[in-house]
Amino acid sequence: MRRLIAGNWKMHKTVSETREYIEKFLRLVEHPESREILLCPPFTSLYVAGEMLEGSGVKLGAQNCHYEKSGPYTGEVSPPMLKEVGCEYVIIGHSERRQLFGESDEVINKKLVACLEEGLRPILCVGETREEREAGMTFKVIETQVRLALSGIEEHTDRIDIAYEPVWAIGSGTPATPQDAVEVHTFIRQLLSEINPKNEGRTRILYGGSVKPQNAKEFMKHEEINGLLVGGASLDPESFAQIVYSF
Ligand code: 13P
Repeated sequence: MRRLIAGNWKMHKTVSETREYIEKFLRLVEHPESREILLCPPFTSLYVAGEMLEGSGVKLGAQNCHYEKSGPYTGEVSPPMLKEVGCEYVIIGHSERRQLFGESDEVINKKLVACLEEGLRPILCVGETREEREAGMTFKVIETQVRLALSGIEEHTDRIDIAYEPVWAIGSGTPATPQDAVEVHTFIRQLLSEINPKNEGRTRILYGGSVKPQNAKEFMKHEEINGLLVGGASLDPESFAQIVYSF
């Protein structure tokens, strides 16, 4: 499976800023086929990004979606809407959604089901808080998040990627050590093979949390790390391109 390098822009960039970014970024992307490259702009930029990325080899993803196809859900966006503008991926259950917007494991599970039904590939985010890590709860927290998210869709673990994003490492400037990440990735890998042995090795496990051009290579040296989910350092096309080609 090709390794995946994904940029999560979060709530950054207007449509005109998106245009400017993608024009620059596409000039820097030399061999998109050697790895999978994904941009996840905000909803308002998806349409223009989809048009500009078409045929480039760089993929498009959303940062969230609703679990219904349509209906009275003011302010929400559905999987078919994302599909039509060219999205292939959707980030689901990011810790900011869990913490700031009250997303439960149950809602995250519904969103995963909805993405799979629409043929979108979800990137499920999991990760422990600092308090949970200090209390020795890391594996328990990750196991609960993974099991509840995948409940009822165990047969489709080959159509999902998982991003391990320790909450304390996100936006802090202090990433997990590659050793800590490898330990958790190995745990998730074992858990996945328990959940569905038939799909063994077919789910990518990405690391996210303060990834920068300076440290990306240290993570990508390890075969347990199948890619990166990058926040802040994906906002500049040059820095994101450096990360993409760091390994
Ligand atoms: P930073 O790379 O800014 O720490 O964000 C990580 C993240 O949350 C990606 O989804």
